[in-house]
Amino acid sequence: MNNKADKNDSLATCLFPYGLASSKKGQFPPHALTTPSNSMPLDHIFIEDCLTGMAKLPPASVDIVIADPPYNLSKGGEWKWDSNKNLPGFGGDWQKVMQTWDNMPLEQYFAFTLAWLSELKRVVRASGSIWIHGTYHNIGIINVVMQLLNIEIINEVVWYKRNSFPNLSGRRLTASHETILWAHTGTPKKRKYLFDYAEAKSSDFPEDKLKEQGKQMRTVWDVPNNKERSEIAHGKHPTQKPVRLLVRMLRLSSKPGQICLIPFAGSGSECVAALRCGLHYIAFETERQYAEIAEARIANEKGLFSAVYAEQEVKP
Ligand SMILES: C[S@@+](CC[C@H](N)C(=O)[O-])C[C@H]1O[C@@H](n2cnc3c(N)ncnc32)[C@H](O)[C@@H]1O
Repeated sequence: MNNKADKNDSLATCLFPYGLASSKKGQFPPHALTTPSNSMPLDHIFIEDCLTGMAKLPPASVDIVIADPPYNLSKGGEWKWDSNKNLPGFGGDWQKVMQTWDNMPLEQYFAFTLAWLSELKRVVRASGSIWIHGTYHNIGIINVVMQLLNIEIINEVVWYKRNSFPNLSGRRLTASHETILWAHTGTPKKRKYLFDYAEAKSSDFPEDKLKEQGKQMRTVWDVPNNKERSEIAHGKHPTQKPVRLLVRMLRLSSKPGQICLIPFAGSGSECVAALRCGLHYIAFETERQYAEIAEARIANEKGLFSAVYAEQEVKP
């Protein structure tokens, strides 16, 4: 038994869950999306407002979006948490969520949501998918705006966080889920979005105690929110998503080689998921500190990718 080869085989399985990759032999050649006026590099995080960035994209130019917008829950610092308490893998303490990018008056948040969702409707192909994260703080607004824009919601997914953060006040139930909306930009009469039904049904998601292999996938996903070491090795984001959650979205509704738009990149979890599934990405993030964490994570991911191929090259 060759332990090294075994290790790399399992690494390959983890990196490319359905045996695919758009780039061969660990090479990441530059790709670009040609716009009417210039060329926009793919696989790049732009440190800029996504509204400005998306305005440069041609209509119907991307295949899938994973949007993790500000939830607008940073209201006046009511949440208190002793930041000395260490919660490994939870991606930062709750005080850090009190940030200006996450705090807008309601009317402004509504207008902002209308603006970025309008851009998504313009740039996502009719065959594409849009996945949006939220909680009760913002998901109602997103739902209403989608209806105003005639963006059809395919499913509302409940992301059940089995290991969620305890309620500290003892005056509420312990919040243990987030809501994810899956939508498309085609018309209800002409639904063209991709859904890998067979993959959804046959796949085993070992961490998900609600999903039975061979049974249809339901709208409640049991995905632990703790992060693997590599996800937090380069720094943390206060609202970081686990990569395994994002990989699931891509596995269900995209194909390798497609372009994934990431309007709110944060620490790059969605970029890492896109790489793992063999997709290109275009990402925007306003805060340089997070974009730098994201770049470090991506470089690490590409290093793993090259290592797997290098090992496979020398196999007889
Ligand atoms: C909810 S977090 C995303 C976290 C990400 N999913 C991760 O796993 O790291 C939202 C991010 O959007 C960024 N942001 C807020 N407004 C933005 C805008 N208009 N354009 C681009 N990024 C923005 C924030 O700086 C923040 O990092």
